[in-house]
Amino acid sequence: VSASAAPPVYSRRLPFALLLEYRRSMLRVIERARDLGDVVELRVSAGLNPICVFDPKLVEQVLVTRATRYGKNTPGYQRLSDLLGQGLLTSQGELWRRQRRIAQPLFKKSSLRGFGAIISEEAEAMAARWAASAESGEPRDAAHDMGELALAVVGRALFSSDMSGPTSAALSQALEDALAHYISRLTTPLPGWQHLPTRVNRRGWRAARYLRTFVADLIAARRAAGADQAAGSDLLGLLMKASDAEGGIPDELIQDECLTMLLAGHETTANALAWTLHLLARHPAARERLEAELDAALPEARAATLDDMDALPFTWQVLQESMRLYPPAWVIARSVEEHDELGGYSLRPGSFVLLCQHAIHRHPELWEEPAAFRPERFAPEGERAGLPRFAYFPFGGGQRLCLGEGFARQEAVLVLASLARRFRLELLEPGEPELVASVTLRPGAGVRARVVAR
Ligand code: HEM
Repeated sequence: VSASAAPPVYSRRLPFALLLEYRRSMLRVIERARDLGDVVELRVSAGLNPICVFDPKLVEQVLVTRATRYGKNTPGYQRLSDLLGQGLLTSQGELWRRQRRIAQPLFKKSSLRGFGAIISEEAEAMAARWAASAESGEPRDAAHDMGELALAVVGRALFSSDMSGPTSAALSQALEDALAHYISRLTTPLPGWQHLPTRVNRRGWRAARYLRTFVADLIAARRAAGADQAAGSDLLGLLMKASDAEGGIPDELIQDECLTMLLAGHETTANALAWTLHLLARHPAARERLEAELDAALPEARAATLDDMDALPFTWQVLQESMRLYPPAWVIARSVEEHDELGGYSLRPGSFVLLCQHAIHRHPELWEEPAAFRPERFAPEGERAGLPRFAYFPFGGGQRLCLGEGFARQEAVLVLASLARRFRLELLEPGEPELVASVTLRPGAGVRARVVAR
């Protein structure tokens, strides 16, 4: 391959054919393109021609070694910032650096210790609800439950606010409508369409207004509570302190940051837990091994706490394997800001690349029997240890590595341990679930199941 070559192209002869497929499932289209090589351009439609990268070494180049040549000016991040504004996930440059510095203290070991108790309490509250369902036999949607739980945790940990009950239902609905709107806009490049009052658009607009008002009210309530509370050490407190110190951060930017953390801090973790519960219900051998670890670590069947973490290595392996098969953040996009050469191909500024965890985590040239659920892959001497760094990257990498990785790990391990110690799920629809790939990867019909006490 000569250094100036363009990458191989994946396209369809009929106009719009690939766009329609892409609308139906971006994930499947990207997976099929993988057969063409390590770097493949998708001709989806005018203005939407992402370059997919499937080699872990090249992913490392984009995220780490030549990260300065890449940015977040991609269609996906642009649509996402229509909703989230300039929060930590979507901002760039100096603003991003400052926001990361402000939020960092929340994710230090000492802060995470404080969140541990919140997680255990919320897991215990969910266990009580599951116990009632086990008693009555009434089925539950475990995906919905994990969303509610994760929202309650983020509400208390980052905002010192109760986001359970009716607030949770309204917030979840708004987030769902906003994300449906996002994906629809991303895969409908027809000019003008975004202004039409279609059902998805109307619901999306309404959801965005609701979410803005919700965070604006949080901020106003904190201000009204006076200086003492404003100096608190949660996210709102840190943002207000920084605003005072720096002569005022505009309210809109504080809202952006709150909305970003609300979304980034719960949707992914909730999906990781939902997929894991689904997998465990389908794989009795792994589930039994997990239960053996839990019975030993928690003999008296209580919620797990931070002090139990070291006794739960297999629990974390189960979660990692689940995030391999169903990475909650299933793709990372970057714009090419400066010319780069990737795997022998020339990338023009203005184009954009997709680093698809879902496709790389299941790459047959990397993983043995990639579709099989085998938590042992993540044992200290397991298969993963012998693979390149970016054969597995559920939390991204480089300077934009997920800020909440430690938070998420702690939450996922404690919640899974607390629930799987006492309950099993019997799926109402067994088998491979439908994958819905929006900002995150979700089980389409939820995880509907009967709860059985162990
Ligand atoms: C299983 C759970 C989670 C997964 C799989 C996940 C995944 C990711 C990924 C892949 C990125 C990088 C995006 C990119 O490079 O374009 C990211 C960024 C981020 N995540 Fe997470 N995340 C999770 C949980 C959390 C939690 C619990 C929080 C906060 C409490 C959080 C906050 C953030 C923030 C603030 C960023 C932006 C960081 C930056 O750009 O500096 N995440 N996450």
